[in-house]
Amino acid sequence: MGNSLYYVTTPIYYVNAEPHLGHTYTTLAADTFARYHELVGDDAFFLTGTDEHGDKIARAATEQGTTPQLIADRVSALFRKTWKECGISFDRFIRTTDPQHVRTVKYVLQKVFDKGEVYKAEYGGYYCFGCERYFTQTELDELEDKVCPDHKKPLEYVKEENYFFKMSKYRDALRDYIESHPGFIRPERYKNEVLGFLKEPLDDLCISRPKSRLTWGIELPFDKDFVTYVWFDALLNYLTGIGYPDDPDWKVRWAVCEHIIGKDILKTHAVYWPTMLMAAGVPLFKTLSVHGFWKQKESKIAKSTGNVVRPLEMKAKYGMEAFRYYLLKDMVFGLDASYSEEALVQRVNADLANNLGNMVNRVLNMAEKYVGGIVPQRGDSLGEVHEAFKKETLSAAGNVMAAMEEIKPSRALDAIIRIADSANRYIVATEPFRMVKDDEKKEELEHVLYNLLECIRIIGILLSPFLPRTSKELLSRVGWKSVEGRDHIAAAGQFGLLQPGSKVYKGGPLFDRLEITSVTNDRDMPKESDHPAALIDFDLWEKLDLRIGLVKTAEPIPKSKKLLKLQVDIGEVRTVVAGMAKYYAPEELVGKSVVVLANLKPAKLMGIESRGMVLAVVSGGRGSVLTTDRQSVPGSKVS
Ligand code: MSP
Repeated sequence: MGNSLYYVTTPIYYVNAEPHLGHTYTTLAADTFARYHELVGDDAFFLTGTDEHGDKIARAATEQGTTPQLIADRVSALFRKTWKECGISFDRFIRTTDPQHVRTVKYVLQKVFDKGEVYKAEYGGYYCFGCERYFTQTELDELEDKVCPDHKKPLEYVKEENYFFKMSKYRDALRDYIESHPGFIRPERYKNEVLGFLKEPLDDLCISRPKSRLTWGIELPFDKDFVTYVWFDALLNYLTGIGYPDDPDWKVRWAVCEHIIGKDILKTHAVYWPTMLMAAGVPLFKTLSVHGFWKQKESKIAKSTGNVVRPLEMKAKYGMEAFRYYLLKDMVFGLDASYSEEALVQRVNADLANNLGNMVNRVLNMAEKYVGGIVPQRGDSLGEVHEAFKKETLSAAGNVMAAMEEIKPSRALDAIIRIADSANRYIVATEPFRMVKDDEKKEELEHVLYNLLECIRIIGILLSPFLPRTSKELLSRVGWKSVEGRDHIAAAGQFGLLQPGSKVYKGGPLFDRLEITSVTNDRDMPKESDHPAALIDFDLWEKLDLRIGLVKTAEPIPKSKKLLKLQVDIGEVRTVVAGMAKYYAPEELVGKSVVVLANLKPAKLMGIESRGMVLAVVSGGRGSVLTTDRQSVPGSKVS
């Protein structure tokens, strides 16, 4: 770990339901893992998206009197927007209707077909349209009536000719692989569950649907009367997402791929998927990490049960950081957990408002009152109580890393909150408020405050994967550069990095105490304060060379989804790389009068030297370049 690659995925969500708590937990967990890997210096790539084909969506479209494409476009956009608004740091949002994905699926189908891994046969069986699969005889034997235990809907008898993947022949190879790769499926209980299925004979997998019954899918490249089965299509998104098969780099990312899923789709990911990969001659992903289900009053939380918890409503009510904290803290990864707003409020009040928030508040108050709002001098070793506190604080980074290695985000948060506890105890033990009255204790008072500010810095760094906004706020209050870039974990394992004399900022309460009755008022914690550290002198403003630029040409940059290469006339013609590809087609920018920061140090982006920066704003998920409302001459100074 550290300075390597990491690739994390969520399941791609069906577009027949709007984002709910279950989707949010998985996506948050993946976001936390991606951020954690960035924190320890890895280059993380995070993929999420939507699963848009299949019976389910086709049926929903018929019921709603619309087309599957329209449903898919609307709900997929809703997922994307929800994750953006929740601050989820995904790198790519994939849709199974993306032409690139359709190509990948056809490519793999053809490949397995050519290898003789697929055959045509007639099959009749009991089918669940919710699960999009036939039930096996063993499963049917376990049911009292022919009703799907997950969807509570009667199974339907379906008989038709279809294509089958020879999955059965891979049973032994898969079992051997799982047994010889201990971290392949985790936690252990799910690995055992899969080894349990593999004791029974494995059936072949039906991978097609006749077009006479379903047209909303990807056509089989070797038989135009059929579309492919939704899981054969959906699982391949994980390869499309990293450019398989065309991008030669897909292999390196693939080797470090971690899939995060809920336990409901264990079989498809732990049996269908690896055997499909074996048949296609693609190496297996690195890890399948499986979490349990959030339940509300003993039922799974999902649309079918009517208990919909909408993430943006929770954000508006309690703040995203509070919601994140509760979800990550109160579910032991791998086990089920029960969801309630009462528990959320209690958890956040106890850990964030009281414990962490009060400690930070006390320390910054004391720093302002006793040492003039700056980082004081650190004294030399002044005895046991100080050393013990430092030791405890420094052990947190190791504990967080150990917990994350074992996919225990809840335990990692525990380790962080314990340092806030220990800081509170340190304040009680040293009583800095008494030292202030005693001149001889000045050095010790400074030492105590220095240690406490360091402790806040370390908590700030360690919290970054879990509570990114709180982390930024803590670090900026103690005057530490924010956790962006690489290898910040090292700074959480050292004491003495804050510079004496640098400014600290007290700010308001870090977290408001929540009440269960809180109703929607768009709050987001922690409060972003516009504190003095964010103010700049007029001198600095004057140093900015902002000019009007006329965009002469704009072109995409191969392999980059975000960047465009522009030639901009700012009195002279400059090459400027702008992160606008998601928001503008290149030709839309040509002829626009934009604002350019002309004296930004040149930087190489995707191998192109960019000399300047085009100013833009992203608001409500839409990007827009800054422009003037009257015609201005290229090169004019903006002041
Ligand atoms: N489209 C398939 C996945 C294809 S992946 C190649 C699918 N989609 S889904 O919309 O039903 O999402 C299922 C996933 O949502 C679960 O695996 C889990 O990650 C998440 N959750 C849905 N309900 C959940 C809970 N109540 N609790 C926790 N997570 C659950 O299956």
